[in-house]
Amino acid sequence: MFDLHVHVLAGVDDGARSLDESHAMVSGLAELGYCKLVTTPHIRDGLFPNKPEALTRAFSEWRAAMHEKGGALPELALAAEHHLDATCLELASTQRLMTYPDGRSVLVELPYETLPPRLSDVCFRIALCGYAIVLAHPERNRVLREHRDDPWPFTGGRPKLLLDLLALEGEYGAEAERAACHWLDLGYYDAACSDLHRPSQLVKLNAALETLERRWGPERRQVLLGSGPAAIALP
Ligand SMILES: [Fe+2]
Repeated sequence: MFDLHVHVLAGVDDGARSLDESHAMVSGLAELGYCKLVTTPHIRDGLFPNKPEALTRAFSEWRAAMHEKGGALPELALAAEHHLDATCLELASTQRLMTYPDGRSVLVELPYETLPPRLSDVCFRIALCGYAIVLAHPERNRVLREHRDDPWPFTGGRPKLLLDLLALEGEYGAEAERAACHWLDLGYYDAACSDLHRPSQLVKLNAALETLERRWGPERRQVLLGSGPAAIALP
């Protein structure tokens, strides 16, 4: 199992707050069967003004600290969750977006209540810079939910889509849960991720994995957690 969206790097965003919390999260994910995690700290104007170079340094020290703490750990890699804002476009135009290990795919998140103006043009500009957009938790965006049978004109075509598994357990409200189930029924998602921020969410994640298997079957679970994420983002 691969997790392409998780906030386990400590002290850089609203995810893990200490090395102990990080270690509890990565160990817990290993126990659930994850063999590789890509930690995706937020880069967002105003809220999380992380710089790629600083995140890369922090990640390499953090990974060494995780191995010092020991135990069976998944393989750990770094990308980022880029909010679609001016910084994201500036990093794209200077070839500094923090990609997945494939060197091309970038995790992007949208606001929850609105869509950025001329979103399809913005997505096209990022693609022209050589990147492939992977959209985080589309089920949390109100406008995409309101056009749930055909939201892709807004994005200029369907990007790769990551389900946030905790949505299946109501973590983000009834509307997000309904949209997630609808898009699972339609086969829209390319991969399923934990978007874990706290060790306490591991219980709900386990329940979500069981829900995924019970309602959509073991084969779909295997695709969304194995071959799907591998095809999107791993070299
Ligand atoms: Fe996230």
